[in-house]
Amino acid sequence: MSLRFELLASDAGTAARRGRITTTRSVIETPVFMPVGTAATVKALTQDMLEALDARIILANTYHLFLRPGHEVIRELGGLHRFMSWPRSILTDSGGYQVFSLGELRTISEEGVTFRSHLDGTRLLLSPEVSMEVQIALGSDIVMAFDECPPYPASPEQVRHSLELTERWARRCRTYFDTHADRERQSLFGIVQGSVYPELRARSLEGLLEIGFEGYAIGGLSVGEEKHLMYDTTEFIAPRLPADKPRYLMGVGTPADLVESVARGVDMFDCVMPTRHARNGTVFTTTGRLNLRNARYVRDEQPLDPDCTCAVCRRYSRAYLAHLLRTGEILASILATYHNVHHYLDLMRQIRHALERAEFSRFRADFHRRQLSSEE
Ligand code: GUN
Ligand code: ZN
Repeated sequence: MSLRFELLASDAGTAARRGRITTTRSVIETPVFMPVGTAATVKALTQDMLEALDARIILANTYHLFLRPGHEVIRELGGLHRFMSWPRSILTDSGGYQVFSLGELRTISEEGVTFRSHLDGTRLLLSPEVSMEVQIALGSDIVMAFDECPPYPASPEQVRHSLELTERWARRCRTYFDTHADRERQSLFGIVQGSVYPELRARSLEGLLEIGFEGYAIGGLSVGEEKHLMYDTTEFIAPRLPADKPRYLMGVGTPADLVESVARGVDMFDCVMPTRHARNGTVFTTTGRLNLRNARYVRDEQPLDPDCTCAVCRRYSRAYLAHLLRTGEILASILATYHNVHHYLDLMRQIRHALERAEFSRFRADFHRRQLSSEE
């Protein structure tokens, strides 16, 4: 089997789980956060840094790598792991979400999505089969089905139409994957859609369960809906996903979103927030966020987060980071990204530790109490 999932513990008071995914390339302790490496790089970090941070799995994007350098180039160079010198696991998103973000530039049909490259304007097609072909060529450990993520808000009729298309595409993905992938090394995950409508979420899941996948993702959230709708939708659908397979909430979120979604039964997350925010000078701390552009940090000799044990916090001050940022020095991005990714991975370590000791509810309450005491 390409992917093994062990459920190590379940929380008594919530739907939270402690588990372990084993691929042919790494052991991934869950709940896990996957740093985003869209174009075969987690922006501003070297692979040595990712290993020092103990990242076991990163995410890359089909859409971007399909356009540049192209999956054939990567296949010829021995696959994505070898190309980027990353020996641990890689999950690739299918391109569905990225092409839908193109807006005007794309047309959806039963066959797939035709779009104009944002690089040179060429017309291209991404379909279930093309997405599978690309992800198989990349050699991803976890391959995502090609889905349609409806906009928010969308009417129940629009959403039903969309999830039926997503289901037909999921079936085509399963068929292509099963006849072309290296099934000893690669696994396929399905993506539940259905926006904020519980009955439609349940319907979408029913269709995917019939096809059968090695893991199940919750898509179509964090697309502009109110926070309570995201939490309620996750609370409804996550516990209905198979208990013996990994559950992945796509594109989420803030540290509080991670804690709350773990409580609702989610095992895997990805989000650009820690890496993107770092490049804008926003850093995460145990009491909340701070923005290094704020004048108050110009003479602040404290580390980014006095409670953080990362290599950046052990060596550098807020004043130095604030200076690098204002001066436009690339080291600002590197140091802030290292700290933010450490913050996210450390939060997940703390969550796992709490689950192991049956202390998750206490951890969750303490976490929120600390956030409330923040000044920013
Ligand atoms: N990333 C965040 N949300 C989604 C989604 O709904 N589908 C896909 N494929 N990727 C996502
Ligand atoms: Zn730090």
